[in-house]
Formats: sequence, C-alpha cells, structure tokens
Amino acid sequence: MRVRRVPDVKHHVNWLTICVWARNSQRFDQIKLLQASLSFYPSLVPQIPRGCIPLRDCGRIRHCQQRITSPTCVYLLTVSPPPPDENPPSSRVSYLSNDSTKATPYIMSLSRHVDPDELIKSLHDHPIHKASQNKDRFTSHITPYSSRYASSTELSKYQIPHDGAPAEVVHQLLKDELDLDGRPQLNLASFVGTYMEKEAEQLMVENLSKNLSDADEYPAMMDMHGRCVSILAHLWGVQKGEKAIGSATTGSSEAIHLGGLAMKRRWQEKRMKEGKDTSKPNIVMGSNAQVALEKFARYFEVEARILPVSAKSNYRLDPDLVKENIDENTIGIFVILGSTYTGHYEPVEEISNILDEYEKKTGVDIPIHVDGASGAFIAPFTHAKAGQKWNFELPRVKSINVSGHKFGLVYAGVGWIIWRDESYLPKHLVFELHYLGGTEESYTLNFSRPGAQIIAQYYNLIHLGFTGYQSIMENTLANARLFSRALEHTGWYRCISDIHRKKGDHTYEEGKAPYDSGETSADYNAGLPVVAFTFTDEFRKQYPHLKEDAVQNLMRAKQYIIPSYPLPPNEEKTQILRVVVRETLSLDMIDRLVTDLCNVTESMMNSDAVDLAAWQPAPRSVEKQHTSAGLPSHKKHESRRPMKEGVHRSVC
Ligand SMILES: Cc1ncc(COP(=O)(O)O)c(C=O)c1O
Repeated sequence: MRVRRVPDVKHHVNWLTICVWARNSQRFDQIKLLQASLSFYPSLVPQIPRGCIPLRDCGRIRHCQQRITSPTCVYLLTVSPPPPDENPPSSRVSYLSNDSTKATPYIMSLSRHVDPDELIKSLHDHPIHKASQNKDRFTSHITPYSSRYASSTELSKYQIPHDGAPAEVVHQLLKDELDLDGRPQLNLASFVGTYMEKEAEQLMVENLSKNLSDADEYPAMMDMHGRCVSILAHLWGVQKGEKAIGSATTGSSEAIHLGGLAMKRRWQEKRMKEGKDTSKPNIVMGSNAQVALEKFARYFEVEARILPVSAKSNYRLDPDLVKENIDENTIGIFVILGSTYTGHYEPVEEISNILDEYEKKTGVDIPIHVDGASGAFIAPFTHAKAGQKWNFELPRVKSINVSGHKFGLVYAGVGWIIWRDESYLPKHLVFELHYLGGTEESYTLNFSRPGAQIIAQYYNLIHLGFTGYQSIMENTLANARLFSRALEHTGWYRCISDIHRKKGDHTYEEGKAPYDSGETSADYNAGLPVVAFTFTDEFRKQYPHLKEDAVQNLMRAKQYIIPSYPLPPNEEKTQILRVVVRETLSLDMIDRLVTDLCNVTESMMNSDAVDLAAWQPAPRSVEKQHTSAGLPSHKKHESRRPMKEGVHRSVC
C-alpha cells in the first residue's frame, strides 16, 4: 500500500490520518513514530517522516491533531485517549484514509478493516491501470521459478525491455547465468585478488555509493586516500625532504599512463627550454611488457622501443640492450617488477647504473618508472626483497605504480601511482577543479572512481600491518616453491620461473635435486609468486603429440583456470602454462592442484593424437591470423600486419 505522490501539493492533498492512542496520564511533547510502532504494516506509511514528531501544546492528551507535511503528502496525526473499554498499546496506527474530508479517526484495529489489495486497486494513478493485464503482477507468483519468466517470457538481452521484471526474478536469473563463469578462487590465471575478509567487504558495501572524485563531500574518505599514498611512499623508500605525491587510480594501467605522461611532459619541457626538437620521444621496455605499457606508447604518441627478452636475460628487460637503445629522445624506461609472463623481477638497480653511466658520458638524464603492478606490494614485505634495489632509494626511480587489487589484496578497481616528489609531476598535468562547492586538484585520467576500494585498501594496510602482509607474501612464495618443486619432480615439467631455486641459480637441470633447505624467501631468487612451466625436452621427445593447450583445457574441465601461452617474441617457440599463487591457493589447494595436474597429464600420456584433438585445437593466435602463412608468394606482403599497424600480443 502506497500513499501516492501528487504533483502539486496544494491541489491534490492526500491526507493520511493516523490516530495514536495515548493513556490519560501520559504527557506527550512528542510522539515517536518509529518503524517499530508501525512495523506491523509498514507499507501503509512509507512516506511518514520517521523519528520524533513534535506535538505542540499537547499537555495531557485528550484530543490533539497535528498536520505533518512532507513534500508530497500531508498527514494528520491525531492523538487521543484510548476508548474506555479497550486496553490498547500506548501508541499505534489505527485508521487510514486518503481523503481529507473524512479524516475523523475511528479507533479500530487495522487488520480487521483495511484490505491492502483493495487499497492498491483504489489508489492507482490512472484508470488505464485498472484495465492493465499486469495489475496483479506483484502477487502473481511465489518464486522466480514459478513465474512466467521461468518458461514463457524471455528476459530481453540486447535491447532495453519495454517493461522491467521483478527484482527477485532478475536477480535469480542473472545469478544462474553467472554460474557459467569460472570460479574466481580457481582462476589461477589472474593476479587480481578474489578474497577479502568479511569486515573489509562490509566496509566496502557500506561505502559503495561514494565517488572518489567528490573530495569535498567525502573528506574522511579523502583522508584515508592521503594516508594510503603516504604509507606507500614510505614503504617504497621515499627520501627525507622529498614531498611524495600520488593518487589512487582504477588500476595499474591508468597509473602507468600517468607515470609515462609525466615523463613525456618533463622531457618536452626540458627540451623546449633548451630549444631542442620534441617531435620524436621514445620509451624503452622489454617485449615481456604488459599491454598497458605498450598502450601508453601508442595512445600518447611515443615510439615504443620494445626490446626482445631471452633466456640469457631471464625473460626480462636486457640491460645490454638498454644501453644500445637509449638516446637524447628517450623519455624514460619502464622497468617491471615483475614480469607478467614469468614473474621475474627486472633488474632496476642494474638499469639505473647503466643510465648513470650514460648520463656521465652524455649529460642525458633518463628517468625510470617502475611498473610494480604486483611486485610493489610484495618486494617491500618479503625477506627476498627485490633481489637488488628497486624503489625510491635509487634516485633515478621517479615514479612507481602498483595494483591495489593485486597483491594489495583489494577487489578489482584500485591502483596507485606515486611520484617521489611533487616536482616530478608537471604542473601541466594538474587541473584545479571547482566542483560541487570545493576546490580540488585532479591529475587522473578517470574522474569518477570507486571510493570503497580506497577504504578497503586502507583497512588492509592498518589491519594486516607490515607483519600481516609479510606472512601472506611469504606464504604465497612458499606455496609457489612447493608447487614448482612438485612439477619438476615429475620429470614431465620444468619451470621457467625460478623463485624456487637457490639464490643465484637460475637454470633448470634435469635430475638436479630440488633445493628446499632455505628458511625464507631470502634464500631463494626474488620474484613474484608465479609458477611458469612447460614440458621438459625429454617429455616432448616421448610424447611429441602432446601440447600445453591440452593441459589448460583438461584442467579447465576440473574448474581450474590455468592459461597456456607462448613466451614473448624471440622466445615464442616456448609455450608455457602459468599459475599465479595468490593467498587463497593454500597448501591444501596446492595438494589438490598437483594431484589433478598429475592425473590430467597421465591421462594425456595414455591418449593418442586423435583422442586429444578436441582438447588441443590448432592455435589461432591473432598474429597467426595476420601472417602470410598459406598465401601465394606474390600476395604475402598484403596480409602481413606488423606490430605498428595494430596487432599486438600480450598477456595479462
Ligand atoms: C606488470 C603489469 N603491469 C600492468 C598491469 C595492468 O594492471 P591493471 O590490470 O591493474 O591495470 C599488469 C596486469 O596484470 C601487470 O602484470
């Protein structure tokens, strides 16, 4: 039952009369119309102002009437003594009318005299509704599956439907469809967090409606944002006297673009001051770079110098190649902590030293932006650190990004960019906004962004503290080591990642005893808790018809999501499988994973190429579709689409 909103209060006044019994002796300065007193029929009074309603000069209640106006309705509240022979509770709704002329209260119980269905029918806006076929739709079904949506009415998919459908039906049907998705906890492909504690989730739900760009409106949330920036800057070794500056972003991609833009602008400003050409900026990165880095180069018109990686460079940016590919037009180097392909940390300090030497020789000062999407939330906490210096301890590192939603342990939707000092964020990129009553500075690509994630990030930081993050990160590394050893123990697989090998030992040797006597990550190679593995040469020789794709697909049938992809260009002949060990991949789950992977591999070994055909379809990578394979020689040039024309391959 609804009291209808009327367009013009003056002309169409709905009067709802509520009679409240009061005992003779009671003095009422105010009547508390709380949900509790009305809850036995709350839908009758949805618009009555809740809380305390002051009653003027009631004294001891005999009979008192007061109008309460809301934007759409006028209620007449009548307070009178209870009838002599009844003994009602001290206050209760007893009579309702939407007709102001009949506002005299009758003191009778609602349940006996008001038929809600009748009232709904009589209160419809327009006669057309009376003829509507849907007039009973609110009471036409009991469960979503007993409604017409279960078998005879399809929910519209690609165009907005003329009429909506009941919430519980839509909720149930969408939920059922979403069951077709993979299970986030078994999504071992993703770096992005899939677990948060109940308390963090609760905070997020409570703050889902807050927009991070409404700084003036949500000062408490903005304070938390500022505290996160400060915590990260300190974790990343900001130096005394520096004024770190930074912001939350929607993820690392946006943060990387901002870091790149700041480097480009600083380079331009310097060159312009010196009267030099600014038309050919370039940026250097490894071919293992995540797509966000290449996107920056393409979207912001900077030549991407993508350097091949190799087994020799540990599948990461090769310092020797960096030396050969920098010049006065290099706006900066993207160095990754760690590689999306294999989890290796790139050698930030080594590259920084090369750039120091280069500056000494040429006077050209090339900055580093560290893409710490995953690693900047791991290296600060683990005993292994990053193997060598990687953060603001190195003067050449001007900015660092991280994904709060990866090892910052927040659900998807938050990244961070920090510059070591405000002087590295060019003023040109900062907008002063006069928005919704306040003044704020904006230098992000997105304006509106979720605020709840920032609160959740702050919750994690202060709830877990340094030691909490440390034990989670050490656990993930220990589990990743265990999984790697188990894989190599089979003799079927070898790991490309090397976080399970003794510090300094980077290569796989068949039959070599696994190193398992380290106490913490400090005894092993530093890197992300990522296990990148492939068949051993021996296994390939014995089972030439088996491919890693079949492992991916057969494991998917068991609900695990484990991607299979080729290594970056130059090493693309090696096809790898990759498991990201997040905090949710506990020891128990590793146990199950190893068992299932062994079962799958054994069943493949017992199958012939025909049996396996469906599980390892011929790869149709984007490059393959654009190569000249299969075309006559005089047409080959027509089909090739080199990287610069837009076909890029990357993993994420
Ligand atoms: C090294 C690296 N950089 C950048 C990104 C992009 O991060 P986001 O998904 O937070 O935008 C990823 C994502 O996996 C990554 O691994």
